[in-house]
Amino acid sequence: MAEFYSDRQNDDRCVVVHPRLRRDTAEAARSGEAQLDEAVGLVRAIDLTIAHAEVIPVPTVKRGTFFGEGVVERLLAVIEDVWHGGAENSGEHPVIVVVNAALSPVQQRNLEKAWNCKVIDRTGLILEIFGERARTSEGRLQVELAALIYQRSRLVRSWTHLERQRGGAGFMGGPGEAQIETDRRLINDRITRLRRRLKDVRRTRDLHRRARRRVPYPIIALVGYTNAGKSTLFNHLTSATVAARDQLFATLDPTMRALDLPSGRKVILSDTVGFISDLPHELVEAFHATLEEVIEADIVAHVRDISHPETEQQKQDVGAVLRDMDLDEAVADNLIEVLNKIDLASPDDLAPLANQVVRKNKAAVLISAKTGAGCDTLLKLFDERLGASRQTHTVSLKPADGAALSWLYDHGEVLEREDTESDVRLRVRLEPADAARFTSPDFLPGPSPSTHGRRLRPSLDD
Ligand code: GTP
Repeated sequence: MAEFYSDRQNDDRCVVVHPRLRRDTAEAARSGEAQLDEAVGLVRAIDLTIAHAEVIPVPTVKRGTFFGEGVVERLLAVIEDVWHGGAENSGEHPVIVVVNAALSPVQQRNLEKAWNCKVIDRTGLILEIFGERARTSEGRLQVELAALIYQRSRLVRSWTHLERQRGGAGFMGGPGEAQIETDRRLINDRITRLRRRLKDVRRTRDLHRRARRRVPYPIIALVGYTNAGKSTLFNHLTSATVAARDQLFATLDPTMRALDLPSGRKVILSDTVGFISDLPHELVEAFHATLEEVIEADIVAHVRDISHPETEQQKQDVGAVLRDMDLDEAVADNLIEVLNKIDLASPDDLAPLANQVVRKNKAAVLISAKTGAGCDTLLKLFDERLGASRQTHTVSLKPADGAALSWLYDHGEVLEREDTESDVRLRVRLEPADAARFTSPDFLPGPSPSTHGRRLRPSLDD
């Protein structure tokens, strides 16, 4: 995958334009400024420096260049200014223009010619982000497949005009004309191989899931729209905890960190790739694959930006995607809504939200990830949720099965213990996920030959 995403350079400057089309009626369309903000956020997510951003009204889309002639010329002046370092005159900076819309290959090529710089459209931009964020093997393959299919569609003549600016065959650069046919063949071969590998990966997906279950603590996944504040919350919660510095977790993915809840219970917090409005349809599968780890979660916390004008619509979108995913029913029913950015809301807006939280019987929490307000309540809610779902089981172990015994003491609440000559009987309260871990064939501390008789069943008096 790296070969597609390696061509960005640190001094690249980005010009972001959001075309507001005439068909976007005021009621139906999200405000152009909000959409531009989202695009700017996405560009920042891949570490490009924003030099200029604007909404451009487009009364009619031109077939060849998308924008009208006047706009193309005006933007050329902006691009040249950025290229030469603007007012500071700070030297030459390669410019990348991001057009927050779907461009046809021809439009993209013509704009690149007119502006003499690299142009990427919304699909290309999102692919960059998914490429950086895909984690599971299925996610990576799915994103690479989407990137290859997109790249193949862009293999048109005239890429050579870019070679003056930047050589190489990277995704953001593009191949030279002489290479096009060879590249097309190579891409087709790679697509065929990827599809085959994806099939294999899907076949073994269940095995992977079982392996993931070896993470010895409950997983809480943060999901939500891009810019909702997931990473800010993730950092706020995990930086204040001792567990975050636990060496045990140094090898975990950087977006998964251990966290101590107020009860002392240890959990793993997982930050996921953000939802994006109007996701190009060819990227939907890749997006779902990058979100795959949510399926592993014991709790899903939906982080919402309540100051966003489209917050309700965003909530519906997230709900629809989660419903499509193969989420455990209990997890889907127990979604926690985290209403973020309350520091930006006026008292008038907050009152109805607070009422809503009460009505929802505490399934929602008002917070500010930035100031930390409400975060304690959120942590308590995680605790309650995990505790409330605990069920009482009776367990019978061979006395030699010390590892399993201490695991039960670590992860559950032992209510009663009876030691006989042949076994140790316990009544223990466990979360469903832990009960599943304990009884799974690849349970970590055992099973040793002497513990084949391990049994776990709900206690009758529960
Ligand atoms: P993606 O990584 O794109 O999915 O976004 P994210 O959901 O992780 O959002 P992130 O944490 O990067 O926050 C987006 C922006 O919102 C940043 O500029 C944050 O500083 C800001 N932000 C996050 N939480 C709050 C909050 O509670 N109040 C205010 N005022 N700003 C916040």
